[in-house]
Amino acid sequence: MKNFRQMKQRGEKITALTAYDYPTARLLDESGIDIILVGDSVGMVVLGYQDTTDVTLDEMLHHTRAAARGVKEALLVADMPIGTYETPEQAEATARKFVAAGAQAVKLEGGVNRVAQIEAITNAGIPFMAHIGMLPQTVREQGGYKIKGRTQSEAEALLVDARAVEQAGAFSVVLEIVVSEVAKQITSAIEIPTIGIGSGEHCDGQILVTHDLIGLFPWFTPKFVSAEARVAEEIRRAARAFVERTRGAKIA
Ligand code: KIV
Repeated sequence: MKNFRQMKQRGEKITALTAYDYPTARLLDESGIDIILVGDSVGMVVLGYQDTTDVTLDEMLHHTRAAARGVKEALLVADMPIGTYETPEQAEATARKFVAAGAQAVKLEGGVNRVAQIEAITNAGIPFMAHIGMLPQTVREQGGYKIKGRTQSEAEALLVDARAVEQAGAFSVVLEIVVSEVAKQITSAIEIPTIGIGSGEHCDGQILVTHDLIGLFPWFTPKFVSAEARVAEEIRRAARAFVERTRGAKIA
């Protein structure tokens, strides 16, 4: 495992993308990405669910096994889905299942409220990535994907969360849709790297859902994403070409 704290100290930006299958994981790995996340975003961009709250442990383990077969260099992190870390004992047991499936680290959503679970995982010797800010597994209670850290009390709570997960042994923390200035303050207040998604440029690294980066889920793209490719259009073009070629073929 790379020393992500040292990368932060040296000012080297950390790169992370999601993968849920063998070819994508292998392509990202071959591209020199630092961290590959088998995110529970698989529920939305691959499985067609409305949000991540329907994703099951079996689904996540299945995708983790596939991605693990494609990774040689990057750190493979797996997302623990909703309902699989209600207690410290359950969190540790779930984390062990992901390690058995090929993950080198796990991630779950929450800060101060999840310290006991995080400690159970890190005390078991399993590297842990935290996730604070907008928590997609709570999207239904929150009524949408809303930016965090707009008020003084929200910003202070985020800082408390960041310090708590660092103290509990996380090696890094994802900041999802956090006000850029607040993400900057958190980044300078803690020693573990912050990995931002929609949280501005001051984080120690950036993570994106690969489908958003490459334009493979054209029906919804978050505002903060600047796509680097239009893969959905290429698929449509190739499929139409195949349809035309096949229908146009003469019967001998
Ligand atoms: O599930 C996921 O892909 C994530 C990232 C967006 C951070 O948690």
